[in-house]
Amino acid sequence: MKRFSVITAFPEIFNGFLSSSIIGRAISSGLIEVELLNLRDFAEGKHRQVDDYTYGGGGMVLMAEPLYKAVQAACSISGRAMVIFPSPQGVMLSQEVVESLAQEDHLIIACGHYEGVDERFVESCVDLELSIGDYVLTGGELPAMVIIDAVSRQLPGVVGKAESVAEDSFFRGFLDHPHYTRPVEWRGKRVPEVLLSGDHGAVLDWRRRQAADRTIVRRPDLLSRANILPYLSCGFYVTLFSAPDISLEELERICTVSGAYGAKKVLVVTPLQKPVTTDLSMVKRFSSLESAMSWIGKSEKKVPYVVGMTEAPCGGVHWLELKRRVLERDLPLSLVFCADELLAKEASHFDTMMCLDERGDKIPLSCEVSVVLDRLFGSR
Ligand code: ADE
Repeated sequence: MKRFSVITAFPEIFNGFLSSSIIGRAISSGLIEVELLNLRDFAEGKHRQVDDYTYGGGGMVLMAEPLYKAVQAACSISGRAMVIFPSPQGVMLSQEVVESLAQEDHLIIACGHYEGVDERFVESCVDLELSIGDYVLTGGELPAMVIIDAVSRQLPGVVGKAESVAEDSFFRGFLDHPHYTRPVEWRGKRVPEVLLSGDHGAVLDWRRRQAADRTIVRRPDLLSRANILPYLSCGFYVTLFSAPDISLEELERICTVSGAYGAKKVLVVTPLQKPVTTDLSMVKRFSSLESAMSWIGKSEKKVPYVVGMTEAPCGGVHWLELKRRVLERDLPLSLVFCADELLAKEASHFDTMMCLDERGDKIPLSCEVSVVLDRLFGSR
């Protein structure tokens, strides 16, 4: 069970939120517990004053001592807790932050109000200052609700279907696809036919494509951190073009890493020097780049998008841009590793180049392949 303790001078703000809908159900079924601590209960004097004027001029700020006492009271039950202070100066709340907060047993959220809180409280008690966006709210109560809502829905059983958490917006770093319900036609607008077809494979493909298109147009910045592979409808191939000196061990390493990242095959163009004794079922050999690319075209039934890796400064696009292009084109992808001189000679075979950091021969080809695959198909 997950505990939230909210320290606030305005506990009544939370009433509707904590008693309704999914959060209300999660509390009544014992999946989460939300304790409200009224800051005034920890204040001194007959007026139970919690705020005072800012030194140096300005508005009112919350005093450190009542906040400190409230945190002590919240901690006294569970011992160890993480103290969050919502503030526009904080780290930006993201799905990754939400997922890591979901690992904590007890979160204490201390809500500021007015101009803020005495900085000495933040220094002494707060583990994480969190912002919910680049705008200023009147207090930390709305951010506290946002944090409780986002963290709670990560917990097993809070949202009805586990898949809706697993597949929702941002789960894989992509935006969500559009949703429709009855009637089939509403004010002249029909639900997309594919959703009525009963063909689950086609529905899945359509949804993935919609999610990809929306992300490319609306939030291309998200692509830098997302794995695009689940959103591609064709396979990708690692092509080693003229690497005659490559050892079998290196080739095995390239096959392992390519397979782990989801490549269909490793295409070796021009024969290996040594005979292959190991079982390299990932490897297919070709005598020319053209024949290798046409083999991909035949097996995927689509002409591949051929990308050469270059170390020439400004010789190609940045990997972030390549990710966007690959997703946008949604074609079979061939990542071709070869020397820059060969790239120039065979330029007509390439659709684009991706710029690699210039390292000369300093790192083995298998490492180069790993770096490229992680940039394109890793998630962070
Ligand atoms: N308090 C006031 N504005 C805030 C914001 N944008 N995020 C978190 N806490 C806040």
